[in-house]
Amino acid sequence: MLTQDELKQNVAREAVQYILPLLDNTAVVGVGTGSTVDFFIDELAKHKTRFRAAVSSSNRSTERLQRHGIDVIDLNEVTELVAYVDGADEINHDLAMTKGGGGALTREKIVAALARQFVCIVDESKVVQTLGRFPLPVEVLPMARAMVARRLASEGTPVWRDGFVTDNGGHILDIQGLQVDTEGARRLESRINDIPGVVCCGFFALAPAHVALVATQDGVKTLQRPA
Ligand code: 5RP
Repeated sequence: MLTQDELKQNVAREAVQYILPLLDNTAVVGVGTGSTVDFFIDELAKHKTRFRAAVSSSNRSTERLQRHGIDVIDLNEVTELVAYVDGADEINHDLAMTKGGGGALTREKIVAALARQFVCIVDESKVVQTLGRFPLPVEVLPMARAMVARRLASEGTPVWRDGFVTDNGGHILDIQGLQVDTEGARRLESRINDIPGVVCCGFFALAPAHVALVATQDGVKTLQRPA
């Protein structure tokens, strides 16, 4: 029986194999955030001469990349990333995701938007039929926190992640009690995006992953976005 860390290591290794053919000395790789991505960074470092640089989605990932001697450049210096590799808190079969358990959702969504493909790396415990078991993170400007929470109360139960401040100086509300399919997640993502004071919604349903690499006890499986 593989442990969860061994599953994460396996999928991280597979993700590096997946992106290796895309790399050359001009390639810039988008790097997500989280414990699965930490393993990915460690694997990617073994091939650090094969690509130009990385763009990072958090201070945590930047520090780890730099410790490995990987050049981390500003997103504004780049017009396109060959791929963006990141974990998720939940992913469904349309490859719509809930992200932001680590609080890095805003930068993750921005960096992912510049990538030719989003490669999601998860272990099988993250694959769900409906999104919502994992509370939906929403980053808000601190001054808008209470107002946004009141608006979100019609969707579920928003809980302030008290004491947590994002890399952008934002606060996080985690919405509990949601159960939505892909269409529901898209609609909710749009509604939440429209509330003044919201910086980012942790559903990645309007722009889902292109491919998901899923670590199972029987090996890493590939899920493609349905046509
Ligand atoms: C951070 C994220 C992560 O991708 C998500 O929380 C998964 O993390 P882990 O790989 O540690 O389970 O969205 O904001």
